[in-house]
Amino acid sequence: MDQFLNDLPKAELHLHLEGSLEPELMFALAERNGIKLSYSSVDQLRQAYDFENLQEFLDLYYQGAAVLQTEQDFYDLTWAYIERCKAENILHIEPFFDPQTHTERGIPFITVLNGISRALTDAEVKYGISSGLIMCFLRHLSEAEAFATLEQAEPYLDKIIGIGLDSSEKGHPPAKFERVFAKAREMGLLAVAHAGEEGPAQNVTDAVDILKVDRIDHGVRAIDDPELIKRLATEKIALTVCPLSNTRLKVFDDMSQHNILKMLEQGVKVTVNSDDPAYFGGYLTANFIALEKGLGMTKEQAVQLARNSFEYSFAKPERKLELLDFLDRYCAL
Ligand code: ADE
Ligand code: ZN
Repeated sequence: MDQFLNDLPKAELHLHLEGSLEPELMFALAERNGIKLSYSSVDQLRQAYDFENLQEFLDLYYQGAAVLQTEQDFYDLTWAYIERCKAENILHIEPFFDPQTHTERGIPFITVLNGISRALTDAEVKYGISSGLIMCFLRHLSEAEAFATLEQAEPYLDKIIGIGLDSSEKGHPPAKFERVFAKAREMGLLAVAHAGEEGPAQNVTDAVDILKVDRIDHGVRAIDDPELIKRLATEKIALTVCPLSNTRLKVFDDMSQHNILKMLEQGVKVTVNSDDPAYFGGYLTANFIALEKGLGMTKEQAVQLARNSFEYSFAKPERKLELLDFLDRYCAL
């Protein structure tokens, strides 16, 4: 089954590139850039990855991202993730990046974007992995700062397919970003938002009604509102669920409590994703394996989850058909 899940053709729709920064690369980049880390070794750093909640994780995650300085650093970060995709038969990706985490430290927007997008182009050329890059606004920062970031992105919209909203959900509801999301959609960008991760089901409703998102990131708290669950299913508003992230950040006590398969059975278009794999103990296949071991996910359910990842991706229609065909042929083996 582990091999079946590894080789299963799939897409990843919820992956923060900064969250794929492995401790080994963090140390290598720190050395390359003459930065002193506050941990003496890779092992000591890994031991610090023991979180009680989202904010504890975010504090370490923003600190770690400070080693990323040059265009090559962003290329190397992205390329390391692409190599994982290649090894796990991930054929299409829609990764997130947080420009403000870098521009706030004086790194130019274009340095970040060029490094990432050069790696994504190489992924397509070398491995045939298609992608769409999503730029997230940090919700703990102001609306004005989000607008400034959107303005910085405007000359490069050929390299960005959409916007997202991440960071601390508590105290920063979707409505805070209503106007900047409206502007971005006017500019032709797709929209997603983290909602219902630590925050209430109402945030999921508001992300749909106020931000008019095309997809919800996490969304697991939607389960508290049965009408919302029905609505997500009938309107086919997909959720990008991240099982290992949810247990590591104590959204669920353990995997046996996770509601992804319950939502799948209720007709919600759920997908499996790794969120910040360097911090949460595993990439996409590890998340599928965790569902098999912890929730008894069947092969049929795994295939449905992979199918959803292609169907609810932002890939172009002809690419979507090609991806679904890869899956059908794999299942016919
Ligand atoms: N940024 C990176 N990972 C995140 C998560 N799981 N929730 C909110 N913001 C994030
Ligand atoms: Zn996330």
